[in-house]
Amino acid sequence: MLPSAPADTLSAFCLRILQSGDLAAKLAPARAGISDRRDSNAVAVPERPARDPGLELVASSEPLPRPGALVAAPARAACLARFAHHELLAVELFAFALLRWPELPGALRRVLAATLRDEQRHCSLYLERLAAHDGRLADHPHSDYFWRQTTAIGKSENGPCAFLAAIGLTFEQANLDFTLVYRDAFRVGGDEASAVVCQQVHDDEVRHVRSAAVWITRLSPDAESDLDAYQMAVPFPLSLARAKARRFDRTARERAGLSEAFIEAVRTARSTQETGLGRGVSQK
Ligand SMILES: [Fe+2]
Ligand SMILES: [Fe+2]
Repeated sequence: MLPSAPADTLSAFCLRILQSGDLAAKLAPARAGISDRRDSNAVAVPERPARDPGLELVASSEPLPRPGALVAAPARAACLARFAHHELLAVELFAFALLRWPELPGALRRVLAATLRDEQRHCSLYLERLAAHDGRLADHPHSDYFWRQTTAIGKSENGPCAFLAAIGLTFEQANLDFTLVYRDAFRVGGDEASAVVCQQVHDDEVRHVRSAAVWITRLSPDAESDLDAYQMAVPFPLSLARAKARRFDRTARERAGLSEAFIEAVRTARSTQETGLGRGVSQK
């Protein structure tokens, strides 16, 4: 089958990501210089991303292998599949945001589009490492946990801020920690190439968190700080306690420009539901 023509506008590109079930279509970059001309007609945002057989979303999630288990190749493959899928969901979530809020400032839409492109690259990088382990994404389950947050985000009074709080300042902030935990675990397990990918993702995540903090503050005129803006917008049941892993990395948060008050609030946050959804699904 011939590949379809590249999308003409950013909205059409995002719609294609959500309506195409196959991985190649979801990971194909937008063409250079794509227009952000927005249609006057509202675009219906799909409730769920299309997924071909082998990529279907499921409601449950298994725990991630513990870092110490990554000396074994099957555990490394399970982690790489999970991380690749988290990146794929991130691609779909940024496509969702761009489609859902065409009225956002052009500068923010450019940031969201650039982040979407980073997430596509991250997915490809993890998939390459999975292939090096003779693994396939289709051999692993794909939790819909991150996508499920779009329901509360969509119902929020201030959807764009809820999105930035949930995705940028909860899941991506937590990933500042998880990427380093698993970088070190891959390294100890003898898989330096996967450790390098985790470091690359970590470095990009610093920028993603910084962008989310900058824009949530700009879009929240009544908030006195980044922390204030976060707490006004974060959709239940997410909270500060979900924005970290057990190994808390202060330096990454400082590099991302988070305020001292925000960093301390996350560091000291206690979850009332330590179990239930499980730590593993916090990793993006
Ligand atoms: Fe990513
Ligand atoms: Fe990210």
